[in-house]
Amino acid sequence: MTKHFLSLLDLSSDELNGIVRRATELKRMQHRGDNHTPLKGKNLGMIFEKSSTRTRVSFEAGMSQLGGHALFLSPKDTQLGRGEPIEDSARVLSRMLDIIMIRTFDQDLLERFAAHSRVPVINALTDLLHPCQLLADMQTYFEHRGDIHGKHVTWIGDGNNMCHSYINAARQFGFHLNIACPEGYDPDQTILTAAAEQASIIRDPLTAARGADLIVTDVWASMGQEEEQALREKAFALYQVNDELMAQADNDALFFHCLPAHRGEEVTTSVIDTEESVVWDEAENRLHSQKALLEFLLLGR
Ligand code: CP
Ligand code: NVA
Repeated sequence: MTKHFLSLLDLSSDELNGIVRRATELKRMQHRGDNHTPLKGKNLGMIFEKSSTRTRVSFEAGMSQLGGHALFLSPKDTQLGRGEPIEDSARVLSRMLDIIMIRTFDQDLLERFAAHSRVPVINALTDLLHPCQLLADMQTYFEHRGDIHGKHVTWIGDGNNMCHSYINAARQFGFHLNIACPEGYDPDQTILTAAAEQASIIRDPLTAARGADLIVTDVWASMGQEEEQALREKAFALYQVNDELMAQADNDALFFHCLPAHRGEEVTTSVIDTEESVVWDEAENRLHSQKALLEFLLLGR
């Protein structure tokens, strides 16, 4: 059976921890200047139906560092944008490529693609989930503070794709997750219920942040929700990560944001541009953790 990475729940907790550990090893090797090219001759297809800076560049650079090659496929320039069925595209592309990543809107479309692909498919963000970002986030926490197992993480803001992946990560990596979101912006009930022992909603952001080891947020309006920007600014006004909120967390608490960030909206400059914020490490780790993921899916180790 072909192994896909459509959600953090597709791999076991041991496999995920292994990838995160390997990511730190690959990071050391790259910083040392080691030549490590186990994916020579392998091709990654990258289908993007939404914009990206980090995901595109980290997959493309990562594949090249591992000795392989990456192809950027935009629906605008392929038959995907002219209505070729997703199942047919999967059948065709997976006969030419060794692995495929997709950033799209609908999780269902990604799953249909994977069901018709002969090669591993990676979720590079959908409206529902963003599992690749969690690999980098877990690597970043491990590198700064050690094992996240048993720690307290607080999510502030929208119950969106990132929040859903944090809920899944709470199950897989064994941390407790407080979710502070305004009413009407709750995470998916099924995802939350499945994590009932690890994750719960605490409406008040200051209460939710109390004693936390890690504070995480994301934009108020995700890609595809641009028209709701004004409405969301009102709904989320009390859900900003600022100095008052960070003061509730543990003294050693870190701040994470998957980026891009909107300073003055979901986070203040005084939080994102200071020491407890490790967002640049988080962004860099997209490269190393996805290299570890590519090795895992293509070489089985
Ligand atoms: N965090 C993240 O996925 O960034 P991009 O949208 O730039 O890929
Ligand atoms: N929630 C954001 C994440 C961007 C990486 C979005 O979907 O736009």
